[in-house]
Amino acid sequence: MAIKKVGVVGAGQMGGGIAQVSAVAGLDVLVYDASAEQVAKCKATHQKLMARAVEKGRMEQADADAALARISYASDVNAMADRDIAIEAVVENEDVKKAVFADLDGACKDGCILATNTSSISITAIAAATKRPQHVIGMHFFYPVPVMKLVEVINGLATEEAVTTAVLDLSSRMGKVAVPANDRAGFVSNRILMPMINEAFYTWMEGVAEPEHIDEIMKLGMNHPMGPLQLADFIGLDTCAHIMNVLADGLHSERYRPCPLLEQLVTAGRLGNKSGHGVYKH
Ligand SMILES: NC(=O)c1ccc[n+]([C@@H]2O[C@H](COP(=O)([O-])OP(=O)(O)OC[C@H]3O[C@@H](n4cnc5c(N)ncnc54)[C@H](O)[C@@H]3O)[C@@H](O)[C@H]2O)c1
Repeated sequence: MAIKKVGVVGAGQMGGGIAQVSAVAGLDVLVYDASAEQVAKCKATHQKLMARAVEKGRMEQADADAALARISYASDVNAMADRDIAIEAVVENEDVKKAVFADLDGACKDGCILATNTSSISITAIAAATKRPQHVIGMHFFYPVPVMKLVEVINGLATEEAVTTAVLDLSSRMGKVAVPANDRAGFVSNRILMPMINEAFYTWMEGVAEPEHIDEIMKLGMNHPMGPLQLADFIGLDTCAHIMNVLADGLHSERYRPCPLLEQLVTAGRLGNKSGHGVYKH
């Protein structure tokens, strides 16, 4: 099951990055988004990023041109018909993803793998929206995709071993380090990361230390590149609270509910870097 033609569904922050690394790795890529405007934006971003890579001496002009020539763009799902894999990176909403997977199931050829870049939604639930659950898998990339090495590869309940093997192989051809995991709430990355961030909010709420001191202790003491509260601002406080609720529901345990202070900041509109103010002012 060697994957040659890659389809990326969703031309946003993550989809654009996944398409870029695929093309640079020599793969034929098609980017599909329901919004023609997003497609045009994504194409312009690819051109700008490649031009910058050449300018900075990180890439030869001919290689940048060849990578760009390997990417095509579409705003019609039927363009996905000849792809060997579709990697979905649309908004993090279970109903939207299920509808997108039902559409992809109809548009993609038999045997095409349907992968999702979800951060928190059950792979098994998404797979159930298709008639090919054995070909559905999680491919969790990290932001920014061209820089971050990891792909967490998540098997749904029905995922076939040959599909996992093909996706692990594709990830390493993209220059990534792929690590397998199974489908439980939060997978491995968010199951461990988010409770740590949540605990940092409790530590702040209980007056154990000021935010900058909590971050400094975790950076210097644990050798983390950034502190948990700074990271929460980067990820988005609303996303952190949402994922904690996914963990609480999926693992049937109230101890995973978001810290009241985290919820209060979200209610106040303090969402982190993206809103200009979260734990810190940006
Ligand atoms: N941003 C991150 O740090 C990060 C990290 C890991 C995983 N993820 C996951 O990646 C996914 C995408 O996140 P993002 O930050 O790139 O979002 P984004 O908002 O930047 O992009 C989403 C894109 O999906 C498109 N879209 C929406 N509905 C669609 C549909 N029905 N059909 C086709 N296209 C549709 C939108 O037009 C938009 O271009 C989410 O599931 C998110 O949880 C994000």
